[in-house]
Parts: sequence; C-alpha cells; structure tokens
Amino acid sequence: MQVLVIGSGGREHALVWALKKSPQVDHVYCAPGNAGIAADAECVDISVGELEKLADFAEQKKIDLTVVGPENPLCAGIADVFRSRGLAVFGPSKEAAQLEGSKDFAKQFMLKYGIPTARGAAFTDAANAKEYVKKEFADGANGIVVKADGLAAGKGVLVAESLQDALDFIDGCFEGSFGTAGAKVVIEEKLDGEEASILALTDGKTIVPLVSSQDHKRIFDLDKGPNTGGMGAYSPAPVVTPKAAVRIQQEILLPFLRGIQQEKLDFRGVIFVGLMIDHGKPKVLEFNVRFGDPEIQPVLRRFDGDWFDVVNHVAHGDLANAKLVWSGEPAVSVVIAAGGYPGKYAKGDEITGLAEAEADGAKVFHAGSALRDGKIVTAGGRVLGVSARGKTIPEAIANAYRAVEKIHFNNMQFRKDIGQKALREHEDI
Ligand code: AMP
Ligand code: GLY
Repeated sequence: MQVLVIGSGGREHALVWALKKSPQVDHVYCAPGNAGIAADAECVDISVGELEKLADFAEQKKIDLTVVGPENPLCAGIADVFRSRGLAVFGPSKEAAQLEGSKDFAKQFMLKYGIPTARGAAFTDAANAKEYVKKEFADGANGIVVKADGLAAGKGVLVAESLQDALDFIDGCFEGSFGTAGAKVVIEEKLDGEEASILALTDGKTIVPLVSSQDHKRIFDLDKGPNTGGMGAYSPAPVVTPKAAVRIQQEILLPFLRGIQQEKLDFRGVIFVGLMIDHGKPKVLEFNVRFGDPEIQPVLRRFDGDWFDVVNHVAHGDLANAKLVWSGEPAVSVVIAAGGYPGKYAKGDEITGLAEAEADGAKVFHAGSALRDGKIVTAGGRVLGVSARGKTIPEAIANAYRAVEKIHFNNMQFRKDIGQKALREHEDI
C-alpha cells in the first residue's frame, strides 16, 4: 500500500511512524513533512494548502490512502477534492469540518443534539457582545470566555477574569486581530474542572474512542504563562475515570454520532473533543476535526495494532470491522520548544543528541525541524516531541525526561512537570 500523510508537525510524524509499522504499508509519503519525518517517510514539497496539487500527486503515485493531519486543509475541503476524484482519504468533508472551523456552528450542533457544553451566545457586532459580557459580570460571573468564531491557530480564545480584558478582546476580534475569524464571536460561561481530550474515530456509522490523553497548554510549569499549541501530553488521563468514560460515550459521543447522521455530514476521520470534567461530569469546550498535537503522540505510542488498517477502515466507512489494540503501559510526550515561544523565537539552531535520545526506546517526533548543510536545525516554535512508554506513569515520565536530557539546541525550553497531573487521585464519581 502507498500512503500519503499531509502536514509537517509532530502529529504528522507520529502518524507516519505508526503507519510505516503496518505490514500492509510499502511506502509512506509526507507533504511537506520535516527533517525528522524525512527519516521515516519520503517528503514531498507540496504545501498543505495546495489541494489540487496534492490530489494530482496522489493520482500519479497511485496512493491508496491519504491521511490529513491539520485542520486548515480539512476546512478548505481537501477531503471533498480527493473523494470527487475517487481517492480514499481519512478526514471529514468541508461541511463537517465546520465543527472545528466555526465555534458557532459547533455550539448550535451541541445544543441541537443535547451535548453538554458551556452556556453561551454568538454575536456579529461588538456592541451587543459587550453588553452581554457586562450583564454576565453584573450577574456575578467570576469570568467569561470569548472565542473568535473561526480558525485562529489556537490564539482566538480568551478566558477573561476581568470585564475590561473581555471588552478589549472583543474589540480586538472585531478590529481584525484574527482576520475574518473574529468577525463573529462566541461568548460563554467559564467552566471549572480539569481538562482532558478524547479522540474518537468515526465513519458516520460507528464511533470508537481512542485511549484518553491530556495536554499541557500553558508554556510554563504549573500551568503558568500564555497558552501554546501544547507543551506535552500523557495517556491515559486518569481524570477520565471509568465512570466518566461511560458518561462521555453516552452523553457526548453517541449524541455526536446521531447529530452527524441526522445532519448528513460526511465524517470519516477523527473527532477530538476538548472536555472540562468537573466532579466526574464532562462538558465540551470545543470540537476539533483532527488529531490533537501532542495528544496523538502518547496515544500512538500505546497503540500495538495495525494503524494503517484502522484508518483505512475509517476512510472506507467500515470502522466496525477495525481492530484497536492498546498497550496497558502509559506513555508521555514532552515538547521541546524554541526559546521565546509562543512569542518570537529564533530558527536555524543546530539540534544535537537526537540519536542518543532514542537509544533507550524513546521516540523523538519532529515538529519544527529542517535539514541545513547536512545538519538538523530548528525551524518552528514547537521543535520536538520526545515520547516514551513505561510500566507506570512515573516510569514513562522518567524515560521521556532521560531522553530529553540528551538533546540540545540554543535556548531550548521545555516543561519539567509533564505528567505530574496524572499522579493526582481522581474519585470515580
Ligand atoms: P478552545 O479552543 O475552545 O478549546 O479553547 C482553548 C482553551 O480555552 C481550552 O483548552 C480551555 O483551556 C479554555 N476554555 C475554553 N472554553 C472554556 C470555558 N467555557 N471555560 C473555561 N475554559 C475554557
Ligand atoms: N493540543 C491541542 C490541539 O491539538 O489543539
């Protein structure tokens, strides 16, 4: 089988790595890929936005399955372009991708199908949005969440503790801080609890959750500092207790499946549900229509089956016959970022110690790396995801950090507390 993965981050490296292990897979291409992916796949110099060119390539190379990593090409309709040419693809249609591409679309969908979420409202002008926020604070809210409606690369959400911050953010949205993504905003109540991510495969007929995981969104230890794309993740997430998992299936995933069926959305891919769990009760913060990054890294480290077989079944609408095989061993992935990220950061610094880091069974997924004069150099904010398994969560943490210590580049930064949250006790209520 010939497989094409679209994207260039740590998520795509993890997907390539898992697909390559399948005995059915002869060759993996990745467009555009990065320096680390190039060791596991043949990189193709086509960017994720060139939908027709990607489909031309898939036709020429007789690609049997294309797996789309990021949300932008999905929201631009890549799955429709491929399917209209008879090419098998893992990823939802453009219409279904609005579940991530528009927070308002997602909110309406959740309300219609009874999926628990934060109370909220959508606005297309600043004055009404501000009035709503003022009223919420006057009524005693201890915070409010303002979200730009469209795709904003993870930057379009403010959890505001003060009225002024919320008002300023609303102004920013309507003044174009996020381009057209901010022409509409969704404002919702601030939820308390602990966050977790559930990634579930669906082909529109069946929905199957992958093992649970949890990201660390803030840049600094103890969840301090600004939000990032994600600084590390572990799986499983103990906050998803057995009882919470049942509630997630009953109250969120099954209504979700009913919703996509009734709305006739062509969804053959993964739904990534961002959850807030408060005393065992899950509520949806957001939907994404792609694998979480870095969440998918520890999740795939725990997958012991044939990943190609699974995603191929999804793409062909036959998920019911796919076999998911999980290891009981936990896994942890620690992101190493460039100094300054998520603000300004340097590129082009040489990375050393990669082979040493992998000597002990860890796997280094590359997110922002490039090859220059035969050397691997930094090329993005999040540079690497260092992942390892262990018999227990503390052992997986220790294994990942032992590998991290072997790696060096100028001004590298990483959190020292990835996985610590998983050591807390969680009541199964
Ligand atoms: P989103 O892109 O909607 O997931 O929002 C990004 C982050 O903002 C989430 O991961 C949460 O940390 C936070 N967030 C979003 N919505 C809420 C909410 N209603 N209450 C509290 N925090 C939220
Ligand atoms: N780690 C969060 C995301 O992929 O959106």
